[in-house]
This record gives sequence, C-alpha cells and structure tokens, in this order.
Amino acid sequence: MGILKNSSIEKGLSNEKVIVIDFGGQYNQLVARRVRECNVYCEIYSYKTDIALIKQMAPKGIILTGGPNSCYEQNAPTYKKELFELGIPVLGLCYGAQLMMHILGGKVEKAPVKEYGKTEVDVNHESLMFKNISQKTTCWMSHNDYISQIAPGFQISAHTSDCPVAAAECADKKLYAIQFHPEVLHTVEGTKMIDNFVRGVCGCAGTWRMDSFVEESVKQIREKVGDGKVLLALSGGVDSSVAAGLLSRAIGKQLTCVFVDHGLLRKNEGDEVEAVFGPSGDFDLNFIRVNAQERYYAKLAGVTEPETKRKIIGEEFIRVFEEEAKKIGAVDFLAQGTIYPDVVESGLGGESAVIKSHHNVGGLPDYVDFKEIIEPLRDLFKDEVRKAGLELGIPERLVYRQPFPGPGLGIRIIGEVTAEKVRIVQDADAIYREEIAKAGLDKSIGQYFAALTNMRSVGVMGDERTYDYAIALRAVNTVDFMTAESAEVPFEMLQTVMSRIINEVRGVNRVFYDLTSKPPGTIEFE
Ligand code: XMP
Repeated sequence: MGILKNSSIEKGLSNEKVIVIDFGGQYNQLVARRVRECNVYCEIYSYKTDIALIKQMAPKGIILTGGPNSCYEQNAPTYKKELFELGIPVLGLCYGAQLMMHILGGKVEKAPVKEYGKTEVDVNHESLMFKNISQKTTCWMSHNDYISQIAPGFQISAHTSDCPVAAAECADKKLYAIQFHPEVLHTVEGTKMIDNFVRGVCGCAGTWRMDSFVEESVKQIREKVGDGKVLLALSGGVDSSVAAGLLSRAIGKQLTCVFVDHGLLRKNEGDEVEAVFGPSGDFDLNFIRVNAQERYYAKLAGVTEPETKRKIIGEEFIRVFEEEAKKIGAVDFLAQGTIYPDVVESGLGGESAVIKSHHNVGGLPDYVDFKEIIEPLRDLFKDEVRKAGLELGIPERLVYRQPFPGPGLGIRIIGEVTAEKVRIVQDADAIYREEIAKAGLDKSIGQYFAALTNMRSVGVMGDERTYDYAIALRAVNTVDFMTAESAEVPFEMLQTVMSRIINEVRGVNRVFYDLTSKPPGTIEFE
C-alpha cells in the first residue's frame, strides 16, 4: 500500500501511531484529524487491509469508523475477529461499534426508533472513555441499527432515552464501542473522548507536533535527495507553496520551481506568487515564471463547453511545463504537493474512494525526465499543511488562501474565455474579496468568489443605455466540499459589493447572488 511505503513521518518523528480502519463512513478523515489534534500520529486504512500488516505496524490503538451498511447483512464490510484479540485497544464508532458487538457475540438489529442529530447522552463516569465528561452530554447520533444486546464480557457505559446502548466496553480487553460520533463537532465533548481513548486507554504520550514535522522532513528530504535536482510545478496554491517552502529549506537551489501564469489567476495573483518565491522573496530556490497568458487565450478562443475548456487548460499546462522542463534538462525528482486527503480520496488510503480527476495521485507524468517522485506533504491534512506553511515563513495570506481550482477563472467564466472577460471577473472578484474581508467573513466562509455569467442585458447608467454582463457572486459554507450550502451573508455587504462592481468594473450592469446549494449545484460556476 502506497501510504506505508511513503510514510516518512511515522518512522522518524513519532513511533506511536493510532490507525483508523475505514468502513466507508463519511467522517473517516475527521476521525484521523481528531486523533492528530491530540498530538498522536494517525493514518487511515481500508477494512480490506490484511491483519498481518496491522500487526507489523503495531499501532498503539485502532479505531473502527462508521459506515453505511448493516453489519448483519450478507457481504457487509467486516473484519477478522482476531483484530480484537491482539491486545491492542480498539474503539468502534457507530458501524464500527455495532460490528464489534456483532463479531464478539452481541446482537445488532434495526432500531425501533432511528436517532439522527444532536442527542443527549447519559454517561457512566467509571468508564475511562468518559473521564471528565459531563454526566449528560450532547452527542451526534446517526443510526438506523442499534445494539440490542451487548457481547459477553461487555458493560453498558452510556445510554440515551431511545438507545439503551449508546456505549459499551470491555475494559479488561480495552475494547470500546460508541454508537454516536465523537469525531463530529456537534458532539460537544467529542475531542475529549478521543483524547481519553488515545492517551487514557492506549497510553499514547502525544508528542506528534508540526514544528518537529518540519525539522524531521527537512532531514529526510536531504537524505533522500542527496545532491540531486528537484523540479516542482508551483501553482501558488497552499499545497504547492508549502511544498516549495519545505524543499527550499531542505535543499535550497537544488530546487527549481516552475510557475505557469496561465492568465486565469485572480487579480495580481501572479505577481504575489513571484513576490514570495521569486528572486526578491525570502526563499532560496530557482524560480521560473512562465507568462503563458496569450497562449492560453489563443487556445481557448471560441471554446464554450466547460469540459473542453478544462481539458485545454490542463493540456496546455502540460505543454508549457514540458517545454520548461526540457530547458532545465533531466532532474532526479519531480516534487508534488499531494496531501493526505488526496491520497485517501484516490482510494489508496481509506475506503471511501472518491476519485477526483484533478488529483494526480500516483499517476506519474511522463512528460518530464525524472527518476522519482517526491511528495513531502503526503501525510498531512490541510490544516497541518497550513501550520507547516506558517512554520516555514510563508505569508498568512498565502497559507490561508481560498481554495482555487487548477483551471482557475477559466471555469468561472461561462462560455468563451477572452482577455476582456478575464479582466471583468478578476476586478469583480477582487472587490468581492475585499468587502468580504472588511465584513470580517473571510475566515468563516468556506469558499467565495465572483463568476461571470454569459448573460448580457439592458441597463441604464447615467443617461446611457447599457448592454452589459451580469456577475454572479457565490459564497458557500462547506465542511468537505462534497456538499455545500449557500452562505447567509449580510444583505448590506452584498449591496456595497453590487454598487462597487457596477461603478468600478467596466462591462457589468447587474450583480446576482447565487443561492444554490450542492447538490444540485456545484460549488464552482461553470
Ligand atoms: P465543485 O465545483 O466540484 O468543487 O463543487 C468542489 C471543490 O473543488 C474545487 N474544484 C477544483 N479544484 N481543479 C481543482 O484543483 C479543478 O478542476 C476543480 N474543480 C473544482 C472547487 O473550487 C471546490 O473547492
């Protein structure tokens, strides 16, 4: 399995690890993040992972996630009973809890009353899991099945009014089953419960920290790269920027970053990236900026179909990058800013394999002459990447940058992309971002941007009739970017943005606010 082979930090940094066994639950990554928030290193593995591998890893604890199935059904995901006999503490959550009971001789059935949402749970304080937790505590429930009978040797350690077994345990064997989801923030004391498990039950010391990650990674990169050359495609996004910062700290000018300005970046973004990583910036590396705007606009002329636009933008990137790589000549390593969710979502780590075409995990580009791929952020979650970025001295505005798609404004302009339309959407977006920041909303909204509709309509400006474009403003709240709700932004702020855009951006005479959630919409506006 890829992650094991490449997992750099588990060897050097921390020899205590908790693993999450994924049964397809939607919160699989959250579980691992919560464990890491307790300063314990954690990785996710599919339930299909061989037990021999788990034994070999010798984790300090194992957490079984939730999942969409019923454990008593044929072909439902399961695991070998032996897992519970290794002497390693196991915590089962939701489906994981039911499965533990089912395998060990308890009974799971369809619940007479389904529980969904915030629920008051009554806990037994004698349980190590609930040490220092309030007697009645709000937890997040989401289940159709319930544990109707606990397995022999277990005791009930929490209940709700509808659920007789909200938690059960066999403390002697360090086996714990919890029906609710401590990993979800709605479970008010959930992080404390996970901390109770990883420290209290598993005995982890909790020494995993980001500053040591940077230090240790620098050491490992130096060892791996030696005096070799590394090439990195820098997009100016958080991941590739932090990868650049880390590699620069480790190997300085042995690193060359190629930054392709495709003319579809946000206003002034190309210059901002150059200011940080270029010759006048603080990082020791070779920086090559390719101003390919005209090339892209020429290729995109007359193209209106969104997928075709994406394809052209992607292919053109390869072509430009390839030309630059040829000038540089053979390199030893091609660096990529892959992060842990990319690994998991590509089906290499956990079970919920949502394969995103824009995540190039494991697929080696064949257009550059290199020997090996290097992915220094492969084990990190996004918030950890950000912490590492700050450690490395990358400016906050870059580290906390809004997510921005690879094809850039190309997919925020409906219909044909032209230099003129790019200017309009860049200017409108800059105003929108400025006002969102002024209103103090820039850190709380998941993603927000302006897009250019392909609609032109009649308006009046002064005494003149106009026939101009409509700008769409989008702002969404989202946890995982798979689903999203339109954000409730203040109407006054929208009015300010509207009037500024109409006054300051030539070519726009209407402004819309997009209310669509995802599904049925997508977050992007293409
Ligand atoms: P959608 O529009 O699919 O977007 O709801 C979900 C998230 O993914 C981002 N996105 C992309 N990111 N390349 C990227 O790097 C892409 O082609 C791409 N398309 C969408 C989008 O900005 C949002 O955060």
